Amino acid sequence: MSMKPITILAIESSCDETSASVCKDGKILSNIIATQKIHEQYGGVVPELASRAHMQNIVPTVDAALKAANCQLTELNAVAYTQAPGLIGALLVGSQFAKSLALSLDIPLIAVHHMQAHVLANLIAEPRPSFPFLCLTVSGGHTQIVLCESPLQMKVIGETLDDAAGEAFDKSAKLLGLPYPGGPLIDKYAKTGDPNRFKFPEPQIPGLDFSFSGLKTAILYFLQEQTHKDPGFVEKNLADICASIQNRIVSILLNKLKKAVKETAVKDICIAGGVSANSGLRSAFVEMSKSLQLNSFIPAFEYCTDNAAMIAITAYHKFLAKDFAPLSSSATARAEWS
Ligand code: KG4
Ligand code: ZN
Repeated sequence: MSMKPITILAIESSCDETSASVCKDGKILSNIIATQKIHEQYGGVVPELASRAHMQNIVPTVDAALKAANCQLTELNAVAYTQAPGLIGALLVGSQFAKSLALSLDIPLIAVHHMQAHVLANLIAEPRPSFPFLCLTVSGGHTQIVLCESPLQMKVIGETLDDAAGEAFDKSAKLLGLPYPGGPLIDKYAKTGDPNRFKFPEPQIPGLDFSFSGLKTAILYFLQEQTHKDPGFVEKNLADICASIQNRIVSILLNKLKKAVKETAVKDICIAGGVSANSGLRSAFVEMSKSLQLNSFIPAFEYCTDNAAMIAITAYHKFLAKDFAPLSSSATARAEWS
């Protein structure tokens, strides 16, 4: 007897990416991402402009995702949306659209936690980690170490007390006069620099939590002092400065991950989120896994930055668990883990 396929449309709109994805029986058929260019000129995401851009993007993005998956609306078995956390106006666009569609098609609605989805991006394609695994989720908005026991059972065992890892990259880049988002540029310049040329402090935070605000201040004072002595300091030493900053951010992240591995004794470790695109982090992560004899996993880049495929895969597991949301469910800027 053949089982009826489970086809889900997922929508992500928590920040500055409008994304829609179709997944069938846990396999991603499409993942369309409309990136909002409007924020570049402001040096960061402007919430009100993000909401307006989502309003413009949502219908064409969903349409493109259905077409790319060769899927008719009538084939859908559920509609999923990112419920939290994120910018409330941005989240409301995706949630209202998902609710209206679920209502009109008379199919279940699934509410997904964005951070849980980042972790489960690791389940999208082979090779997949085995449970339990640890995931270091690093993006512009979040820095967490998550212990994942099963697709829907996970626990945050460490997180940032202030800035996220991506913010540490972006704010450092801003101090160097680089445009937003500066993370990829620091990565680029770091490639030809000496990571040990300048020493930035490693914060002493107990347990598995992170802090990046001290690093930002240390970089600010360092640059003020150096440019006071030599106004051309940044320009002359850009590669070494970037490599040294990146080196410190990476060591802060991986030292905590290593500590978490010791405490949990897991064998599989993953990274996720936009900062996992960082080449220094990727290579140090793989090296650390090898030296500790662990299996390491990094999702394909399109599943690392904000995307609806990770919402779809999470929704698929929720569908299997019959974890549906009422039409009265709503987006929230902050949310506890379910
Ligand atoms: O996951 P993401 O796309 O959006 C959020 O949910 O925040 O992450 C964006 C963050 C930005 O801070 C950006 O600078 C950083 O990821 N990022 C990088 C790199 N690519 C993206 N940071 C360092 N190196 C990179 N190659
Ligand atoms: Zn994210």
